Amino acid sequence: MTENVTDRDFKTAMGRFLTGVTIVSCIRQDGTPYGLTVNSFASVSLNPRLVLWSLIKDNSSAEDFAKAQSFSIAFLAEEQGDICQRFASDHEDRFAGVAWHQGPSGAPIIENALTVLECAPWQLHDGGDHIIHIGEVTAIHHNPDAQKPMSYFAGKVNEI
Ligand SMILES: Cc1cc2nc3c(=O)[nH]c(=O)nc-3n(C[C@H](O)[C@H](O)[C@H](O)COP(=O)(O)O)c2cc1C
Repeated sequence: MTENVTDRDFKTAMGRFLTGVTIVSCIRQDGTPYGLTVNSFASVSLNPRLVLWSLIKDNSSAEDFAKAQSFSIAFLAEEQGDICQRFASDHEDRFAGVAWHQGPSGAPIIENALTVLECAPWQLHDGGDHIIHIGEVTAIHHNPDAQKPMSYFAGKVNEI
């Protein structure tokens, strides 16, 4: 059946599934923070508390994520379009000018996001051209000032 579905069909179909937008971050082996824009996030399990996201294998920091002691997942608020773009583009230092600090696990916490999860790596799975990262949630940070989430649909943010 695969031959009946082109890459374009697949991408268009996936774009028609409404998601939020997250920034997944870790501290790299050289001690610097790294993050990328991700919409492949999903909740997995309550007991234990597991979540997943997938990372394209040729990502510049794929090895750092595979070796990191912790990572964080920031659910972006509606007004964080600049961060969504910055963490998906060729920016020399994506964290420059972004308010962030290290959480209890050491992972970067992006301030002003709706909610940030800190995670301990649980398992990695092969997912074709992506690696599926499953993490156990070790801490949760809510921002009471942010109420509305960013949405992603048909390649556009906040346009549904
Ligand atoms: C809305 C949106 C969602 C994205 N979701 C993912 C994702 O789930 N997994 C992924 O690997 N890349 C995703 N990307 C692309 C990455 O952000 C991009 O490939 C990454 O920032 C490139 O980083 P690098 O230049 O350091 O390799 C997404 C981009 C956008 C704009």
